[in-house]
Amino acid sequence: MFTDMHNHFVYGVDDGCADQEAMLRLLTALEANSITELISTSHITPGQHHFPMEDYQAHFEEARELIQREGFHMQIHTGHEILYTDAAARYLREGKALTLAGSEYALIEFLPTEKYERLTEAAYKIRNAGYFPVFAHIERYACLSDIAKIEELRDRYGVRIQVNCSLFARKQGFLRKRWIKNVMKYGLIDYVSTDTHDMPGREPLMAQCYDVLMKDYGKETALALTHDNAQEFFE
Ligand SMILES: [Fe+2]
Repeated sequence: MFTDMHNHFVYGVDDGCADQEAMLRLLTALEANSITELISTSHITPGQHHFPMEDYQAHFEEARELIQREGFHMQIHTGHEILYTDAAARYLREGKALTLAGSEYALIEFLPTEKYERLTEAAYKIRNAGYFPVFAHIERYACLSDIAKIEELRDRYGVRIQVNCSLFARKQGFLRKRWIKNVMKYGLIDYVSTDTHDMPGREPLMAQCYDVLMKDYGKETALALTHDNAQEFFE
């Protein structure tokens, strides 16, 4: 039913699952959340830290076997969550950083304190390299508390916008609630994703998020953010 395009289920390559047992635990939780398309987005930091690509590919295949053995319903796809560095665009071009499910879309993240100018530079360079940037969990970036900037990223730089399920599924403070109300009013969010890690507080939350979206914004919006908009990654 749902598509999750941001999570850390592949074990032993980042701060997500530590071992195969943890991966099975997380896949079980994702299955219970009715996730049917799952794009693995392990952290990569181009030019700064080595990424163990062979382990990633091997553990991804182990996940496929576990899913079959357990009779789960999800399809899995490869990808990366790319911390934007000066080498990010080159890594994409050289195939060292993976796009979302082999599409032309790349999931890009930043440090929470990153300046807005660095975000626009990233969008420009990723586009120039031939990819569509999807900015990860934009609720974390201080510079995007101003929603006019989110609008500009979308309209002028062609950026697509992802937020985490926790934004809707967890209690939020007054300012955050007002920000959510505005980004939803202007239709600035493209996808909600679990960004799940095998650790307390980082559970999938997709089903809860869907229920809140249904209640507050209606079925069409709930389906768009949890499933429909992400179908472009598989076309
Ligand atoms: Fe993540």
